Amino acid sequence: MTLAYNHETITARELKPALLELEGISRATIEAHYKLYQGYVAKRNEILETLSGVDLTTANQVYSELRSLKVDYTFAVGGIKNHELYFDHLGGHGGEPKGTFGALIARDFGSAAAWQADLKATGLGARGWAWTAYDWDEGRLFNYIGDAQNTFPVWNASPLVALDVYEHAYFGDFATDRASYIDAFFNNLDYPVIEGLVEAYGIRA
Ligand SMILES: [Fe+2]
Repeated sequence: MTLAYNHETITARELKPALLELEGISRATIEAHYKLYQGYVAKRNEILETLSGVDLTTANQVYSELRSLKVDYTFAVGGIKNHELYFDHLGGHGGEPKGTFGALIARDFGSAAAWQADLKATGLGARGWAWTAYDWDEGRLFNYIGDAQNTFPVWNASPLVALDVYEHAYFGDFATDRASYIDAFFNNLDYPVIEGLVEAYGIRA
């Protein structure tokens, strides 16, 4: 008996041209992200193909194989989702969050400056990612910390901002000055894209 489910292949999204002309974040850095992202897409497809052929009747050895494949699956899919959000909401001109997102920030953090300070500190403490996400159960935003592509999202929360703080995201442009990279990240944020997510998800302030 094998695992039975559909496993359609997905393809990497195109890189939008605006990403290659960010302020302070170089083309080489974006290309490094993109290469990794393409790798995650390939890995995700490969893992699902392998999973669909795993023989569940060989019990003991299959559990460790399943463990390995399914852990790696979350890493690959996390790498896809994190980077798609990262690519989507960069290429803008920063400034102040407006609209419903701006109202949510003001309500849940007090001010845009306080939200940025919290996300920046979270990003400086993280090993891989920091996210602003909306928790549907609690009805509020929170800045979550991540050490890898698959740690530590929580259920029933929708990420609206994804700050990549892996070394490949800043070292080429800022060396060890991760704080300046995070400032550049905010300056290149495309708030209308984030507002579009808030509207698409139906999040209300
Ligand atoms: Fe990245």
